[in-house]
Amino acid sequence: MKRNLFLLVAVIAGIGVFYLSRDDSDNGTVDVAALARERARKEAAAEANAIANQLDLSVLAKQGKSQPLPEYLASDVDPSGRFWLVGNPESEFGVEIPFEPGNLPAAMEGRGTRPNKAGFLGADSCQECHADKYDSFVETAHHRTSRIANLDEISGPLSGGKNRMRTLHPEIGFEMLERDEVAYQRVSFFDWQFEVPMQLIMGSSKMAETYLYWHGDRLFQLNCTYLSEPDAWINSPGYLDGDAAYARPIQSGCLDCHTTYAAFEKDPNHFDPDSLILGVSCERCHGPGQQHVDYHHSHPNDKKSQFMVVPSKLSREREMDVCGQCHTGDKAPKAAEAFGFRPGDRLEDHYDELEGHDDSANSVHTSNQIARLALSTCFKESEMACVQCHDPHKNERGLSQVFSQRCLKCHQEEHCGMQEELGPKLSENCIDCHMPKRATANLRVETIGGQVFPPLRDHYIRVDKEATGKYLDSIKQ
Ligand code: HEC
Ligand code: HEC
Ligand code: HEC
Ligand code: HEC
Ligand code: HEC
Ligand code: HEC
Ligand code: HEC
Repeated sequence: MKRNLFLLVAVIAGIGVFYLSRDDSDNGTVDVAALARERARKEAAAEANAIANQLDLSVLAKQGKSQPLPEYLASDVDPSGRFWLVGNPESEFGVEIPFEPGNLPAAMEGRGTRPNKAGFLGADSCQECHADKYDSFVETAHHRTSRIANLDEISGPLSGGKNRMRTLHPEIGFEMLERDEVAYQRVSFFDWQFEVPMQLIMGSSKMAETYLYWHGDRLFQLNCTYLSEPDAWINSPGYLDGDAAYARPIQSGCLDCHTTYAAFEKDPNHFDPDSLILGVSCERCHGPGQQHVDYHHSHPNDKKSQFMVVPSKLSREREMDVCGQCHTGDKAPKAAEAFGFRPGDRLEDHYDELEGHDDSANSVHTSNQIARLALSTCFKESEMACVQCHDPHKNERGLSQVFSQRCLKCHQEEHCGMQEELGPKLSENCIDCHMPKRATANLRVETIGGQVFPPLRDHYIRVDKEATGKYLDSIKQ
């Protein structure tokens, strides 16, 4: 903002000089020297204006440009040929962007062809006949997990000081801001600045939101992610603090878990932009809707469903596989198999198992509810699957009492050794003692204050003395 201030001062000073020279000529004679001064002043002001404009990102953005790279910064194309690296010989930190420095990313206009969506329609097409399910479904984290980055959908602050992110490296800074209804991340690297628009949101914001943008038909992640708790901008998971990385490709696996459908075209991150169906919709659990919808439109009197799968009518293993598309931490889609799974299929026919739960490309996070639950005695000694506790059509987040009632479908309060001590309070919250939140190393982010591990519910249900102690302390207060 300093530069705009400078510009303002120049303009105000200019007005002052103008009036002064008018006063000089009031006596009727023409003051040639004053006119020459005036011309010189105007030229200088115009030049200052041009320089300031050249640096003003809002002016440059209208021309599809960014600030030109100053001479003391060096840039080169990465050996892979996929992105530019910008650095300063004095500094070990740098910038990675998939567009040439001095430019802005340019989203492709739609292809204009009818995109392949493999029979997927999106949740809106179910509304007319399943309004009861639809109306509550749109409040869920599944539905909200990917969406267009309209300003009112972005949870992170875009003004007021909290919109900045500092790093350990004083010469790299980030500012999140809005202009003309578009949100941007502005990067300052030494004196050079550029901006990248936030176009898609990924993450319902119950924990976090990260942001994506298009360059051509390629989809990339932005450097700064918003973390709901503690309401701050942080480096996206896996990013190094101090770098500005805007060239991380969004691979098909990422969309496979966070959208309903995307026509994947080519490695690593080429998609048909017209094909995206955002949100994890009905159809990832019930199968693509085209045939079902066509059938029931043309047979309005047939009340028997056709061409739809209900997961709980499958075997338990196949039912778990439906959720397992996204809720195991240790698998990656086989090449070109993203979005190939259909309810009723076997998971291993579409995904490769990964060793462990490390940070490899597609095992990014999730606390692996499938594997953890399978360790529980509850699971081993009953026919329990995910829907015994979760209604996928409703947002029930935080409703501990509702979940505790679901434990009591199989258990009785007397079975719990704490019943005598807690009495009726016991049934308010079985969860915090038997399924406490735990930090998971699968979900690690770096911030200026060190590494952060947002805690998630552990689905290994068991007696946990430590969690019991903590919960008892929390209700005594
Ligand atoms: C034109 C009306 C219509 C539309 C649109 C429609 N359905 Fe249905 N659906 C029906 C009818 C009729 C049934 C059978 C009666 C019932 O279960 O409600 C049904 C049943 C179902 C069932 C239960 C199947 C079973 O075996 O019990 C599911 C699941 C389902 N639909 C999902 C969807 C999804 C997902 C969409 C959107 C992609 C959708 N429907 C769109 C009419 C429709
Ligand atoms: C995360 C997976 C998931 C999503 C998303 C989902 N469902 Fe379901 N749906 C299920 C499961 C599992 C069942 C079986 C529930 C049970 O047996 O308790 C089910 C049952 C149904 C049924 C039939 C049984 C009933 O309860 O009436 C209909 C109809 C249905 N879903 C429609 C929809 C529609 C429409 C949407 C989107 C607006 C949707 N579902 C989204 C998993 C899902
Ligand atoms: C296509 C991927 C996908 C499938 C299939 C899927 N989920 Fe999810 N689920 C997600 C993602 C992604 C999130 C995190 C959404 C977010 O917060 O942004 C999530 C979140 C959830 C949550 C947390 C909701 C909250 O508000 O805290 C529950 C519970 C859940 N899923 C249960 C299920 C169950 C049960 C099934 C199977 C019937 C299932 N999911 C199938 C991707 C999926
Ligand atoms: C294997 C499936 C899977 C893949 C791949 C995946 N995610 Fe997720 N993601 C999830 C699930 C499931 C959750 C919810 C946490 C949980 O349930 O353990 C989640 C949570 C998130 C959240 C936090 C949402 C919230 O507020 O709860 C963000 C942000 C996110 N993912 C972004 C990404 C990005 C970006 C990628 C690709 C680089 C990616 N995810 C890849 C399944 C996946
Ligand atoms: C579908 C039925 C079912 C549901 C729902 C269920 N359980 Fe269980 N659970 C069982 C069975 C069966 C056992 C083994 C026999 C027993 O101990 O009663 C068990 C065992 C347990 C144990 C003993 C574990 C051990 O290692 O000895 C605990 C603790 C427990 N359940 C807590 C819960 C809690 C808390 C919930 C709700 C979040 C829950 N259960 C939901 C069926 C269920
Ligand atoms: C304050 C923490 C706390 C709460 C709340 C709580 N439990 Fe427990 N639960 C425990 C502890 C600790 C034990 C082990 C007690 C013992 O061994 O004496 C236990 C034991 C159990 C067992 C028996 C495990 C076995 O060894 O067979 C079951 C089943 C169980 N709880 C279910 C529940 C259910 C269902 C609820 C909610 C209605 C609940 N618990 C609420 C802490 C809790
Ligand atoms: C015995 C009950 C039970 C079963 C079975 C169960 N869950 Fe959960 N799950 C819970 C409870 C309780 C929570 C915490 C809900 C809350 O506080 O909002 C939870 C939370 C979650 C979350 C949100 C994670 C977080 O920490 O915010 C996801 C995702 C999830 N479950 C997925 C699944 C999947 C997938 C399955 C099947 C493999 C499953 N759950 C089976 C009880 C269960």
